[in-house]
Amino acid sequence: MALKWNEKFATGIEKIDTQHRELFTRINNLLDACTQRKGEEMIGEVMRFLEDYIVVHFSTEEEFMLKYDYPDYPSHKAQHAKFISEFSELKRRLKSGRISTVVVPTNRLLIDWWINHISNVDKELGAFLRTKM
Ligand SMILES: [Fe+2]
Repeated sequence: MALKWNEKFATGIEKIDTQHRELFTRINNLLDACTQRKGEEMIGEVMRFLEDYIVVHFSTEEEFMLKYDYPDYPSHKAQHAKFISEFSELKRRLKSGRISTVVVPTNRLLIDWWINHISNVDKELGAFLRTKM
């Protein structure tokens, strides 16, 4: 399993794409660790990275949306909020010590959510921003 950056994920907004590429690298590190049966060691590190990353990255996008009066701001922000709540639930489960039960749902959330989110709403946002910037 791998999550490879591909130009089809590009929004055309350099700051957003740079952050997305960094995210793909981190998620791939976790997937690689899992194939080497080191997922349980790696997952804490990836979760800590994501805690900070999410705050910075979602703020980057939301600031752009506010600055340029993006009409879909509420629904896009709601998707970010949904990710934060699912991520928090995984963190809670991770803290409760059942790491083996968290690795697979974490991988699934990271891959499915981000691919879907970037391919759809982030690309729509990018198309909008490109007409404004
Ligand atoms: Fe987004």
